[in-house]
Amino acid sequence: KAMRNELGNLVKSVEDPETRRAFDVEMQSFFDLFTRYLAERAKNVEIEWDKINSPAPEQVVAYDSLPKVNDTQILNKLAVLKVNGGLGTSMGMTGAKSALEVKDDMTFLDLTVRQIEHLNTSLKVDVPLILMTSFNTHEDTLRIIKKYANQQLRITTFNQSRYPRINKETLLPCPSNANEEKSKWYPPGHGDVYNALVQSGVLDQLLAEGKEYLFVSNSDNLGAVVDQGILQHMIDTQAEFLMEVTDKTKADVKGGTLIDYEGSIRLLEIAQVPSEHVEDFKAIRKFKIFNTNNLWVNLKALKRVMEAGEMELEIIINPKTTDDGQAVIQLETAAGAAIKHFRNGHGVNVPRSRFLPVKSCSDLLLIKSDIYSLEHGQLVINENRLFGTTPVIKLGDHFKKIQQFQKRFKKIPKILELDHLTVTGDVYFGRNVTLRGTVIVVANEGQRIDIPDGCVLENRLLSGNLNM
Ligand code: UTP
Repeated sequence: KAMRNELGNLVKSVEDPETRRAFDVEMQSFFDLFTRYLAERAKNVEIEWDKINSPAPEQVVAYDSLPKVNDTQILNKLAVLKVNGGLGTSMGMTGAKSALEVKDDMTFLDLTVRQIEHLNTSLKVDVPLILMTSFNTHEDTLRIIKKYANQQLRITTFNQSRYPRINKETLLPCPSNANEEKSKWYPPGHGDVYNALVQSGVLDQLLAEGKEYLFVSNSDNLGAVVDQGILQHMIDTQAEFLMEVTDKTKADVKGGTLIDYEGSIRLLEIAQVPSEHVEDFKAIRKFKIFNTNNLWVNLKALKRVMEAGEMELEIIINPKTTDDGQAVIQLETAAGAAIKHFRNGHGVNVPRSRFLPVKSCSDLLLIKSDIYSLEHGQLVINENRLFGTTPVIKLGDHFKKIQQFQKRFKKIPKILELDHLTVTGDVYFGRNVTLRGTVIVVANEGQRIDIPDGCVLENRLLSGNLNM
């Protein structure tokens, strides 16, 4: 009740009637989420571990078994959506991650535009690009796409919701009026995409244009290119929802996974796992695959589910501490959790190459390097790379933030023949450095290592205070 009053006050603080109406709708959907959170907390609902089974074979189809397709016309019924509301906080970013230059001076967004433009021109189809932004990323996004305004490709942007952060102690909203600064609010996860598509009118607009399918993926996943075989499979099996999953390795233990729960298919996220089962969840043997967040949605079915008010998604509680030290919570949802609301929803086990995200500066180094080159905005592994595998790169905490990464590499080293790189401590790389085989560089506490310009390191362990 206190929450309801506070939200009422927030709404009253908006002067312009039209803005107030939209804000009221937004606060109402926040309130629904909050009420559900309280109800679940009171009942202490937790997923019952014993009821979780690995998905049945027919619930996850192998990519190799999909049809080969020549009919490009189905692509005219498709739209591509990138969820682009996140900041990449784990890489220390304060603007949209998709505005980061990843390759040849192009940002994630630029590369996505290249990919779709190429699809449209080479196959003579009309696939529009849609970007979901948040109040944190909207301006960055508009700045980048401005330059495509006069081109053929249609780019639509819409904003996802802005919800008030919740004080962990009082369970009241942090902001006291609607215009309060950004740090008092949050975008409620990519699961918000369905609600935001409806509220923005974009869902109806797509349906009116004759679009029937939507391919959703993360804006930092350069491997998420349109795949006709998957789309054809979706049509053939009348699946209203497809989730691309891929084989889990030891490095992706945290990703959500598909499960069979009392006979129906569900997404299980680590945040939903009772603490005593977290190790089981991470194990590769029981849960072999994880969600890439490449999702295919039937738009008419989406409209049906939304109109019936059935799009309830599991709440992910994200605890945070604000800059001024206050403990807050954010209630979020994940887009893949929607799979349970659709008919014939299932997984497709795709090759790893369809999941090439940048979650850390180690990922960024790999993508920027000579291991990959670009073809129409797509990353392709250099043909001179033996066995087509990528090196394992582990940059330490000094390289965690993007600003540090940029400062510490004057230029990206050549790593075509690298198998493994570990760097810890205060290390700087000069220009035209080549790394081969296994290279380990360790600067101990209080020491600094500078790898000089032009240096070639092959199967080397460097440590201590070096003067090279
Ligand atoms: P994640 O939040 O899972 O990962 O977002 P991330 O981008 O690595 O961010 P950090 O480092 O954890 O902060 C996955 C995708 O979902 C989008 C992001 O922009 C990204 O493309 N996203 C996330 C939204 O669109 N809205 C949100 O509220 C959260």
